[in-house]
Amino acid sequence: MLQFEVLATEGQARRGRLALRRGVVETPIFMPVGTYGTVKGVMPRSLEEMGAQIILGNTFHLWMRPGLDVLRQFGGLHRFEGWTRPILTDSGGFQVWSLGEMRKISEEGVRFASPVNGDRLFLTPELSMQIQQVLDSDIVMQFDECTPYENGGHVTTEAEARASMELSLRWARRCLDEFQRGGNPNALFGIVQGGMFTALRDASLEGLAALDLPGYAIGGLSVGEPKAEMLRVLEHTAPRLPAHKPRYLMGVGTPEDLVAGVAAGIDMFDCVMPTRNARNGHLFTRFGDLKLRNARHKADERPLDPTCGCYTCRGHTDALGRTHGGFSRAYLHHLDRCGEMLGPMLGTIHNLHYYLNLMREIREALEGGRFALFAAQFHADRARGV
Ligand code: GUN
Ligand code: ZN
Repeated sequence: MLQFEVLATEGQARRGRLALRRGVVETPIFMPVGTYGTVKGVMPRSLEEMGAQIILGNTFHLWMRPGLDVLRQFGGLHRFEGWTRPILTDSGGFQVWSLGEMRKISEEGVRFASPVNGDRLFLTPELSMQIQQVLDSDIVMQFDECTPYENGGHVTTEAEARASMELSLRWARRCLDEFQRGGNPNALFGIVQGGMFTALRDASLEGLAALDLPGYAIGGLSVGEPKAEMLRVLEHTAPRLPAHKPRYLMGVGTPEDLVAGVAAGIDMFDCVMPTRNARNGHLFTRFGDLKLRNARHKADERPLDPTCGCYTCRGHTDALGRTHGGFSRAYLHHLDRCGEMLGPMLGTIHNLHYYLNLMREIREALEGGRFALFAAQFHADRARGV
C-alpha cells in the first residue's frame, strides 16, 4: 500500500509526501541504515527524537541472523527491533554482490557460501520476496544485480553492463510475480541498473516502467566510479523516472551528493556514511567535516556544530532544571582516544541528526521556492571549515 503526492517543485527538485501502511514520510528524505535490525548504537527512541521517518533493514543479513523462524515468530521486523514507523528492506542483491569472489550468479539466482557459517546458500528473486514478506517491511526492493564499475582493474564494458541490466530486468518481473502471488500488502520498488551507460539506463527504466511498480530506485551508483560519472548518470536518469512516483537513490552519499540528488529529482536516500563515519570519528557539520582523531580538538570546548540541535551538541536539562549545554570536541576526542562506546553513540546521533536536519531544511526551502538559494548557501557554509 502506498500513495505518493508531489506537493511542490523547483526545477527537477520535488517536495513530496509518501503514505505507507505504518505512517507518512515527508520527502525528500534520508533513511538511516539498520542492516541487522538496528541502526548501530542508536535506540529507536533517539531515532524518533531526531525525526527519522523511515529506516532500512537488509534481507540478506536478517535471513542469516536471526533467521526466518524467529522473524516469523515476531510477526516481522518491526516488533522484533522495536521500531513502529516504516521500514524499507534492501533485497540482498547488493549485499550478495559485496561478497565478491564468494558467489556465483546465474539466471536462476545467486549461489554463495554463508559468511556466517559457510553453509551453501542460494538466493533467488522469489526467495528474496518471501523473506521480505516475513520481514513485513513497508517498502520491498526487487532482487537485482548491482553492476560493478570495475573488477580487478577491468572496467565494466557496455556489453557486460547490458547483460547485467537485462538480468535485473528479468528478475524484476519474477519479483513482481512472487510479490503478488504471496499477497504482500506492502509496496515493491524496481531498481534501475545499466552501469555508466545512459542508453542502458533508459532501457532499464523503460522495462521497469512497464511493470507499473509504485516506486523506482537508481542502483549501481557510488560503486567505485569517479564522482563526475556518478553525477552524469544521476542527472540523466533521475528526471526520466516516472514523475508521479517516489524516486530513490540507493547507497548515496555525502551531504553534497544529497543536495545534488534532490536537484536532479530524487525523493529518497540511504547511506551508511553518517553512521559508519561516526564510528570512525568522521563527523559532518554545517561548516564542513571534522576528524575527531585530530590532536587540534584535544582541549577544544566548542560543540561539534554550534548551529546543531542534536543531543550531542545541545546536551540536556535534568529533572531539577539544571542544564548541561552539550558535549565538547575535547570530550568527544577523549572518548575516541579511549575507545569508549559513548564516542560512536554520540557521534552517530550527531551525524544522523545532521543528515535528517539537512533534509528538513531542503524540504522547507522547496516549500518556499528557495531551494536554489538554499543550495548556494549550503555550499558556502560547508566550504567555510569547522
Ligand atoms: N544499494 C546501493 N546500491 C544498490 C544496488 O544497486 N542494488 C541494491 N539492491 N541495493 C543497493
Ligand atoms: Zn550535533
